[in-house]
Amino acid sequence: MNDQHKNGKSSSASDIPGKELETRVTRLFNIRYPIIQAGMIWASGWRLASAVSNAGGLGLIGAGSMYPDVLREHIQKCKAATGKPFGVNIPLLYKDIDKHIQLVIDESVKIVFTSAGNPKTWTPVFKQNGITVVHVVSSSKFALKAQEAGCDAVVAEGFEAGGHNGREETTTMVLIPRVREAVSIPLIAAGGIATGRQMMAAMILGAEGVQMGSRFVASEEASSHIKFKEAVINAAEGDTYLSLKKLTPVRLIRNKFLQKVQEAEARGAGAEELKELLGRARAKKGMYEGDLDEGELEIGQVSALVREILPAGRIVENVWQEFLNCVHNPLKL
Ligand SMILES: Cc1cc2nc3c(=O)[nH]c(=O)nc-3n(C[C@H](O)[C@H](O)[C@H](O)COP(=O)(O)O)c2cc1C
Repeated sequence: MNDQHKNGKSSSASDIPGKELETRVTRLFNIRYPIIQAGMIWASGWRLASAVSNAGGLGLIGAGSMYPDVLREHIQKCKAATGKPFGVNIPLLYKDIDKHIQLVIDESVKIVFTSAGNPKTWTPVFKQNGITVVHVVSSSKFALKAQEAGCDAVVAEGFEAGGHNGREETTTMVLIPRVREAVSIPLIAAGGIATGRQMMAAMILGAEGVQMGSRFVASEEASSHIKFKEAVINAAEGDTYLSLKKLTPVRLIRNKFLQKVQEAEARGAGAEELKELLGRARAKKGMYEGDLDEGELEIGQVSALVREILPAGRIVENVWQEFLNCVHNPLKL
């Protein structure tokens, strides 16, 4: 972060152009603010990604819930809706992963965020095609692996985060300084960040940008069902829980489905039984179709701080403005 008080002049937050707070993350993606909207299944299509990119952040299309032809359509619509940089999040465990990868190459996508898999396998392929690659990790050990695989940056995602999560339960507060020590590539903090003040805290801990998921679920442009968005803004502290650790750990809002999972886990159900209980398309049912009882509702602890559904561009502006206010007066409440 550059010092915005270069000439010793005192200035108010509002007359400081964002460019004066360049970081390696803003330079890597050629964006105005180091604010990244996370790739999220059933939430981040072209509408959300382009709105965030148009507002000066980096929008990501979440490929994890898209068949290849749907992903192509979202990429093309995103290109038409913004001239600014945007990216695609590709969970590496996706069954048609090679199709997704060929597609982002064919569509000349410039930025890819990979997650849920080994970055060693695909990073060289992206790099050979001139694509900037960022990998999402939940520990300093995996951050080092991402750096060794040739990634341009890492997202370190703490235990508070919505969606799939690390097994070790390291919180953002501890993870960020640990990853900062472990790697030299740019570090983006994720998990539990929805405000400018939280962004400031993450940057002080060593991040050069932030990735926010839950905050953007409650945006007008998210493709999530309105009932799910309302559940997010009504969620209170303690309403989310990291479950299904015997399968892939995932943080969910407490509902009937989660209660069944918890009961099964409490009586020692194994992976097979949990898999059966989960069944197919639970995430779509909950987050996209709005079945709040039987669906899987992925959201982070920070939902307790999210109070309204806003246009995505306003979210970017609000977070940035609060961040700037903190830069000037970090201890003022
Ligand atoms: C509804 C939802 C869906 C998500 N889907 C994905 C996904 O498809 N791929 C991925 O890498 N991360 C996914 N995540 C995690 C986010 O990318 C992000 O890292 C996380 O939300 C950050 O924590 P926060 O929710 O506290 O902001 C998802 C998160 C949520 C809330």
